[in-house]
Amino acid sequence: MLMSRANRRVFGRNGIFLKIIKRHNFGEVVGWEFGWSPVGRPMMTAICYRIGPVLIDTALAHMRPQVLEMVERENIKSVLLTHYHEDHSGNAAEIKAKFKIPIYGERRTAEKLSRPYKIFPYQHLMWGAATPVEIKTLPPGAFEENGLRIVPVYTPGHSKDHTAYLFEEKGWLFSGDLYLSSQIKYFRADEKILDQINSLKKVMSLDFDALFCSHHPRPVDGKKFIAQKLQYLEDLYGKVADLAIRGMDESGIMKDLHLKEDLKIKWLCFGNVSMKNIVRSVIESLLRGGA
Ligand SMILES: [Fe+2]
Repeated sequence: MLMSRANRRVFGRNGIFLKIIKRHNFGEVVGWEFGWSPVGRPMMTAICYRIGPVLIDTALAHMRPQVLEMVERENIKSVLLTHYHEDHSGNAAEIKAKFKIPIYGERRTAEKLSRPYKIFPYQHLMWGAATPVEIKTLPPGAFEENGLRIVPVYTPGHSKDHTAYLFEEKGWLFSGDLYLSSQIKYFRADEKILDQINSLKKVMSLDFDALFCSHHPRPVDGKKFIAQKLQYLEDLYGKVADLAIRGMDESGIMKDLHLKEDLKIKWLCFGNVSMKNIVRSVIESLLRGGA
């Protein structure tokens, strides 16, 4: 059985900034968790996973020296990205430049990271900006990297480029931000609920047990957690769609279903991250002819 054990914890202050590094042991898989905050505990940390010499995701730019040190110490030979978000691709350019190793990602990830793009102030604050970088586009279908057979699984919804990685022989799914939690309280404005539901259905058809989420790993019974999130999103979709079809607006639907905003998150993110975005995504998918 895979065990989750954080056996190395580093909490350091540099001036007023709090930095967190934790090492999680999952047998052959090691999770490196990084967090950074200007005030108090980080609202969110990010986990990079090491499987032999392969690293999945590169954490946030605010923790660059610590990430580069880990890559050197762990003798990483290649990197796979799950999606372009700054807490996943934040150090890809610097890893490529310093260690001359290949970075792989889905075609849309490669396009997005190839040139600078604007991010919100809260994204600068929480993670820092990722440096543009030319990465290699994933080959079609399964491929082998450093002796490991890896199956990319395109899973859009959280972002247009989102891709999970299946290690079939091991029963591992590295799911990026596809799972996050069985019940979620907010969406970014660009998330698509129907795409997420379809992506969750797709991974339910795969053979794996360990779910290596970038924020909340579920090393045992991973499919159970995917099923829980799928059920939650389908139920929510159905309830919102039912009210929307009857003509209720977003605010009315929020009230009728007792959906609450996390006001701290909504204000910090200037409305870019909210529960209302989930409701809005259902309505948009209905307007596009979704089920
Ligand atoms: Fe993300």
